[in-house]
Amino acid sequence: MALCTFWIVRDPWGFNERLFALYYPRLLALAENAGQRETRAALISQAEGRTLELGAGSGINLVHYTAKVTELVITEPSPHMVKHLESELTKERLRCGSVKLLCAGAESLPFEDMSFDTIVATYILCTTPDPALVLREIHRLLRPGGRYLFVEHVHAGEGTPLGRFQDLVELPHRYLAAGCHPNRRTERLLERSKLELVRLEHGRQPRAVPTVRPRIVGTAERSSA
Ligand SMILES: C[S@@+](CC[C@H](N)C(=O)[O-])C[C@H]1O[C@@H](n2cnc3c(N)ncnc32)[C@H](O)[C@@H]1O
Repeated sequence: MALCTFWIVRDPWGFNERLFALYYPRLLALAENAGQRETRAALISQAEGRTLELGAGSGINLVHYTAKVTELVITEPSPHMVKHLESELTKERLRCGSVKLLCAGAESLPFEDMSFDTIVATYILCTTPDPALVLREIHRLLRPGGRYLFVEHVHAGEGTPLGRFQDLVELPHRYLAAGCHPNRRTERLLERSKLELVRLEHGRQPRAVPTVRPRIVGTAERSSA
C-alpha cells in the first residue's frame, strides 16, 4: 500500500507529467473561451517593469503582457511544458520587451533579492510541493512596492460538500493532474506569508472540472525592504 501510494504521487517514469502536458492546453481552452481569458487579460496587463512568471505552463499568459513589461523572465520546471512555451515564443505576437525562458521550479531561483517589479503566478500553488516556500521566494525576489499577481484554484471551504469531495479525491487528482492538489487552503497561506494582500476576489473558474472550480484572483505586495 505504501509503495503504491508512493508510486501514485511520485511516478518515477513521469507518465502523468507527459499526459498532463498533452491534455492540459485542451482542457484549459474550455475555461479560456468561457471567460477566463478576460480574467487573465485584466490581471496580467497590470504587470510592469522587470517581470517574472512562475510555472508558466503552456504559455497561456504570454499574449497578455503589455509594453509596460520591459523584461520578461518565464520559468517552468516541466520539460514537457517547456516545449509548448518554446513554440509559443516563436509566434512573435508578444508586446513586451526582451523574453528569457528558464527551466526551473519556483522554490529557489537564481536571481538577486528584490530584483523584480512584478511576479506573476497562475494556478501553480496547487502543484508546487511546498507553496509556503514559493511565497517566501516571491517575497525575496520582489522589490519593496513590487506586486505579485495571482489566480489560484482553492479549497471550496471547510464542511462544504465540494470541499469534502476535494479532500477525498486529493491523491488520484494529484496523479492525474501531475501533482495538482485540488484542496489547497491557499488564502490561509497568503495571509500567513510576508506579502501584503491588496486585492482578493473569490470566484469560479468557468467550464472547469468541479474540483478546480473555486478560485481566488488577486494582488499582493512586498511592502518593505
Ligand atoms: C495547472 S498548471 C498551470 C500552468 C499555467 N501557469 C496556467 O495558468 O495555465 C501548473 C504548472 O505548475 C508547474 N509546476 C510544477 N511544479 C512547480 C514548481 N515546483 N515550481 C513552479 N512551477 C511548477 C507545472 O509544470 C505546470 O506547468
